[in-house]
Amino acid sequence: MSNAKLPVHVGIIMDGNGRWAKKRGLPRKLGHREGGKVFRKIVEACIDLDLQYVTFYALSTENTSRPKEEVEALVKLFDEYLDDIREMSDKNTRLRFIGGLEFFPKTTCKKMQDAETATASNTGMTCCLALNYGGRSEIIRAVSQIISEHATGISPTWELSEENFANYLYTRGMPNVDLVIRTGGERRISNFLLWQAAYAEYYFTDVLWPDFGKENLATALGDYAERNRRFGGL
Ligand code: FPP
Repeated sequence: MSNAKLPVHVGIIMDGNGRWAKKRGLPRKLGHREGGKVFRKIVEACIDLDLQYVTFYALSTENTSRPKEEVEALVKLFDEYLDDIREMSDKNTRLRFIGGLEFFPKTTCKKMQDAETATASNTGMTCCLALNYGGRSEIIRAVSQIISEHATGISPTWELSEENFANYLYTRGMPNVDLVIRTGGERRISNFLLWQAAYAEYYFTDVLWPDFGKENLATALGDYAERNRRFGGL
């Protein structure tokens, strides 16, 4: 595929871990563990394909209300992953974390900050993890920051434009999303990158996340390359 037809920013909703585990009579947390392995493989595939930005929806604000055991297993999985991010630097990849990160234990937050700092000067792909993320709460947070920064009145040099507003989102500095891929058969966006994906193309597949492979990713990108994006124009 020519790079001209590659999306610049891909968002991935990794759904179906629980059903994958259930089909095998395993606890849900083992489905997430398998999903974690696939996440690593797909990050590698994205790097090999020359993608520039990929945001993975790893935990939504809504997911945090699941049973304690499942949420703790997910937090442990993310924490363990942060102990072994050598491949990111080896592959010149930046790591970035978005969402209500204060939800995580202080030690995990510190690992996230360290990982961002350690990979900040890499020049390859940006791999962004959305954790305890919700699109609506991100927008509310941006609005309240703007209100508090301008409590004494909007400075004459600042204007509320789409571009300026986007600077208050977690994704500050990242381009809009071109393609959202959702695995697991559901056809909804589940509060993912609401602002950023306003003009994204959507690709839904029934494949459960732990079964998702490089070939499925290539199929999704091929499908995207065929689309005619008009951004509301003719
Ligand atoms: C949704 O599937 C998936 C999640 C809530 C967790 C996603 C997390 C991973 C894939 C692990 C990523 C790992 C790292 C290290 C970033 P579900 O549990 O809702 O599945 P179901 O719809 O079949 O129940």
